[in-house]
Order: sequence, then structure tokens, then C-alpha cells
Amino acid sequence: MAWVPTTAAEHGQQLSDTDYRFLRDLIHARSGISLGDHKQRLVQGRLQRRLRQLGLASFADYCERVRENPEPEMDALLSAVSTNVTRFFREPHHFDYLARELLPRCLQASGRIRIWSAGCATGEEAYTLAMILEQAVREHGRPADALILATDLSVEALDVARAGIYRADQLVDIPSEFRSRWFMRGTGAHEGEVRVRPELHEWIRFQALNLLDEWPMQGRFDAIFCRNVVIYFDREGKRRLFSRFSHQLAAQGYVFLGHSESMAGLSDDFDLIGRTIYRRRPDASA
Ligand SMILES: C[S@@+](CC[C@H](N)C(=O)[O-])C[C@H]1O[C@@H](n2cnc3c(N)ncnc32)[C@H](O)[C@@H]1O
Repeated sequence: MAWVPTTAAEHGQQLSDTDYRFLRDLIHARSGISLGDHKQRLVQGRLQRRLRQLGLASFADYCERVRENPEPEMDALLSAVSTNVTRFFREPHHFDYLARELLPRCLQASGRIRIWSAGCATGEEAYTLAMILEQAVREHGRPADALILATDLSVEALDVARAGIYRADQLVDIPSEFRSRWFMRGTGAHEGEVRVRPELHEWIRFQALNLLDEWPMQGRFDAIFCRNVVIYFDREGKRRLFSRFSHQLAAQGYVFLGHSESMAGLSDDFDLIGRTIYRRRPDASA
């Protein structure tokens, strides 16, 4: 006799091809995230915890529930399948450009700066932006009207972002002067954790927003960081999003994409001016 691991299939928790196609189409329609056939096991794994939370015995029951009434389940479904991997100071050349070129120019011109972290996941990108922005404003030496909007469709990821509590080892890529300035070390039950200081948090507004929905923002942004988000979108989804970004940007505003993302063949509104850095063309429509 031997002990063997139990499998999802033995518990009737295997996601059938039909149910996978249903979930895949729904996820695509609601978030733009395109999941190929090879992601079936991944989705099954990611949704297992959700089934347990809901006390459901099988994926068939879960899909039936979502078919009957999708709305109450959308947040949890999209949170479960979205990939929230991120890091402080990820792709640091973007922050170098921001600190060296973009921020000094904006501060000189008007003293008003709006940056959007679109797809901020658990907040590391937004806090990195805040550290760079605060430093630029401090060095400029005059008061500024500066704000970072940080949005994501995953409510779970946003809860982490708002709390601003991380494992201490997640700070490795943060330059030491920023680390000591902006983080507090946990003790007791929080040993091994760090917390963002409230003074840094103040630069950021975290908000749930699905990029496919209406955008409530009125003003235009000087820069949009949308990195490692459209990698999961199909061509048409990317094209539409870049067009909407163009309308939401100030004249000659910037879009920063992730290292494997590109606007090539998808928008005529932008010039590539650095590694995955795009500037809105002066003659862009609207
Ligand atoms: C891999 S993370 C990227 C985080 C960060 N921008 C970075 O580069 O480190 C991708 C994020 O995009 C979010 N996302 C995907 N589709 C979205 C959509 N339609 N609307 C809003 N956020 C979306 C996911 O929830 C996830 O948190």
C-alpha cells in the first residue's frame, strides 16, 4: 500500500473543456485578458480556492452559478485569474527617464503633474512612482500639485496596495536612501514585514477600475504607466486601449509599456522615444 496525492479530478473538481470555454470567453469579454487553450489547468488551479470559499462541489456548479448571475462573481473571478506579479523599481530605466527628463520639465512648465499607474497590481509600481515624484518635487524646491492615480481590476491586489505592507525581502531593488526614508520595519507579529510610511501613501489614490469600462477621470495625464498589462490582451484590445490612452493624455504625454510590449502597428498617435517609452505625437487626433 502507498500514499498518493489526491487530484482535483478525483473530487469532481476538474474544469471541463466546455466550462473552460465559457469562462475564457467571459473573462475576455469583461477584462480583455485573452487566455489560450493551454491555460485551462492554470484557470482550474486558480479557481479551486474560490470553489472552496463558495462551498461548491464542482466546476460545473460554479459555471452554472456564474451563467445564471455573472455580476456578483465578476470581481472574484477576474481577481483569481489575473496575474499580479510586480516589483518595486521594476524596469528601472523608466524611473530614470521620469526623474531626469519628464518630471523636471513638467515641474518647470506648470507645477502640475498627474501620473496614472494603470494595472498597478499590489502597488509596488505606484509607490516607486511616488518615491521618484516626491524627490523631484523636493529638489524643485517649490510647491507642486502632483498626484498618482493607481488602478487595477483586482480588488484583492488593491487591498494589498492600500495596506502598503510587504515582506522585507521585497525591498531589495529599492535604493537604500529611499528604503530608509519611506519604510517602517515591523516588530512582534509583524517581524519580517515593512510598511510604507503614510507620507508616501498620500501621493497616491488607489481605485478599482477595469480598463475596458468607462473611465471616470476628467483631467488628462502627463504619463501613463501601463506595464505588463496588455501582454494578456489581443491585438484589437491593445489597439482600442492605446487609442483611449491617447485621448486621456496631455499634449505630448507619455505611455510606458512593459519590456515585452509594443505599440508597433497598433497606433499612429505615438512616437517611440526610448526603450518601451512612447510620446504622444503633437499631431495626434483629439
Ligand atoms: C503583471 S501585473 C503588472 C503590474 C505592474 N504594472 C508591473 O508592471 O509590475 C498586471 C495587472 O494588470 C491587471 N489587469 C489586467 N487586465 C486588466 C483590466 N482589463 N483592467 C484593469 N487591470 C487589469 C491585473 O489585475 C494585474 O494586476
